[in-house]
Amino acid sequence: ARLVVLVSGSGTNLQALIEATADPAYGAEILAVGADRDGIAGLERAEKAGLPTFVHRVKDHPDRAAWDRALTASVAEYRPDLVVTAGFMKILGSEFIAAFTGRIVNTHPALLPAFPGAHGVTDALAYGVKVTGCTVHLVDSGVDTGPIIAQGVVEVVDADHADGGEALHERIKTVERKLLVDIVGRLAREGHRIEDRKVWIPA
Ligand code: GRF
Repeated sequence: ARLVVLVSGSGTNLQALIEATADPAYGAEILAVGADRDGIAGLERAEKAGLPTFVHRVKDHPDRAAWDRALTASVAEYRPDLVVTAGFMKILGSEFIAAFTGRIVNTHPALLPAFPGAHGVTDALAYGVKVTGCTVHLVDSGVDTGPIIAQGVVEVVDADHADGGEALHERIKTVERKLLVDIVGRLAREGHRIEDRKVWIPA
């Protein structure tokens, strides 16, 4: 299967996918990596792996819809079977969703539907949860509201309240990378179908 991955930051989820796709048996190849900003480690990881990259900054476009259209065109160029948003910190617009609906896989560092949005880790910590984790889901027109495919659980410990969630996010990311690689590989090899919010992957 053909993947395009979108990032906004360190790209450790991307790195896990780069390593997984090195094995032909995994059944997926990354055609390109896109970002909403320059100068991030995620783009350096892509370049080091010899992958084509593209950047679309919202401020380079007259408005949000124009940015969405440009991002959609850049991704469509690679004819992806799946688009993976891994730490991509922009809400995708309606044109993008329409172009790739049912084929956009996102990973979120909390147990959706709890704690959606850009601060899932610290929101869960501030709420005082005893367990949190990560969610791999299909992207729909909402914010972190699409059908859930898989989740991983991470215990919260007292020490997590002392460092602003840094250690907790790292523990979540350890689980998240494994979950994302597993799910993307299964979707790539088996395909999937969606029945009223349930995502079915054969086998
Ligand atoms: C991940 O935990 C992702 O769920 C969240 O931001 C983090 C991105 O990490 N949105 P990386 O850029 O893949 O290292």
